[in-house]
Amino acid sequence: MVERYVMSIDQGTNSTRCILFDHHGRLVSVAQREHQQHFPRPGWVEHDAVEIWRNLRRIVPEALSDEGVAAEVAAIGLANQRETTVVWDRRTGVPVGRAIVWQDTRTAPLVDDLRSDPGDDFFLERCGLPPSTYFSALRIRWLFDHVNGLERRAEDGEVLFGTMESWLIWNLTGGVDGGLHMTDATNASRTMLMNIRTLEWDDELLAFFGVPRPMLPEIRSSAENYGEARSLLPGVRITAALGDQQAALFGQTCFSPGEAKCTYGTGSFLLLNTGTDVVRSRHGLLTTVAYKIGDEPPVYALEGSIAVTGSLVQWFRDRLGLISSAPEIETLARTVEDNGGCYIVPAFSGLFAPRWRSDARGVIVGLTSYITRGHLARAVLEATGWQTREVVDAMNADSSVALKQLKVDGGMTADNLLMQFVADVLDVPVVRPMVAETVSLGAAYAAGLAAEYWPDLEILRRNWHRAGQWLPDMDPERRDAEYDNWQRAVERSLGWIKP
Ligand code: G3P
Repeated sequence: MVERYVMSIDQGTNSTRCILFDHHGRLVSVAQREHQQHFPRPGWVEHDAVEIWRNLRRIVPEALSDEGVAAEVAAIGLANQRETTVVWDRRTGVPVGRAIVWQDTRTAPLVDDLRSDPGDDFFLERCGLPPSTYFSALRIRWLFDHVNGLERRAEDGEVLFGTMESWLIWNLTGGVDGGLHMTDATNASRTMLMNIRTLEWDDELLAFFGVPRPMLPEIRSSAENYGEARSLLPGVRITAALGDQQAALFGQTCFSPGEAKCTYGTGSFLLLNTGTDVVRSRHGLLTTVAYKIGDEPPVYALEGSIAVTGSLVQWFRDRLGLISSAPEIETLARTVEDNGGCYIVPAFSGLFAPRWRSDARGVIVGLTSYITRGHLARAVLEATGWQTREVVDAMNADSSVALKQLKVDGGMTADNLLMQFVADVLDVPVVRPMVAETVSLGAAYAAGLAAEYWPDLEILRRNWHRAGQWLPDMDPERRDAEYDNWQRAVERSLGWIKP
């Protein structure tokens, strides 16, 4: 008998991955390809959407042949880096320039204008998000203001907007030959254009940003039968799409209100399931759609987004050359006892949650002649811990119950020193599941539910097994003193970019 699998495609900030999962949620086969990061000017970050589509076309057959037997794919689920903006020509399929990545800060001057008028509340009320360089709407506006004739072509429906899942689904389902132009509610909830309650494009927001409807994808649920991947796997249906962080929440089986996870990737993203209620944060978190399964009501989340965590380690490796591989950061950090008084605030894209300061830039403070590479390595890792602490503080302040344990996943969770530090500064246990690829797993779970590969959420919960745990072990006085140092360091990063 031929075994059947669910295929998951994770189009992330650094790479695109294709993974096959079996009924137990076990990883059967994986293929991955990195794409180039373009930094054409300070604060600008771009990807080539065509390169990403090409990579996907290569890794899908690789994942299938790796698996060894004639795999039959039951369904395909997609997860993707969110907010990254692609605009392409409907007739030729060629993108209008490179995709503008979620970390890109070129729209900072527009953000400043919006924060003073009409102000944060106008946006928070409608789409759950504060004005920030992070989200897609301002990037579309920026493109209109810089690419001749683009706005008119958008009004005429000649060019299409999408985040990465839209771009890939359009290509997978036929591209110029009738490709499906759609997004799902989780991705749409990151554009600043979707009404967070109705899950429809919001007329007022569209008018405000000047984004014409004909260029927008149709908003679908996160798990339903979208269509056939006829360009790549004829006969196989795409049945799920979710933003990668929402996919990780799903993969961690945080299906009940009050359950939370944090994914440590290029950035880190802590999501708390708030059930079917739209909870408005008073402490700098985002309100976002967690998932919407078929016709069921949407489930929401509060999110604390941290822009730079793993990408700080990459910067340390690639731009400073102080280590030659990412895992070496732990070895280097262990050469010293502590940070030697040094703190790094990686505000490379301004600061996201809970501060939302696009005028912040990175700082290193506390330098003395005593500081070695080892202290810097420690400060790099600690920056991730302290940023998590700030987000958890905001989450505890927003909800009536304090977080009791944190489920974690993502590449950085392989770093034991870091995970111990996170447990120490949060003062709660940190737990990691057996399958660390929770983004991919979540997309597979959603796709498999829609395709009836898995019957219900209960079965998925049973697949979750703990693989690691870190218990808090830091003297409270030391924790408070160091947190105070961190916050003083953050103060120094604010206001670096003049209005
Ligand atoms: O919001 C940005 C996020 O979706 C990026 O995730 O894992 O690709 O860095 P990742």
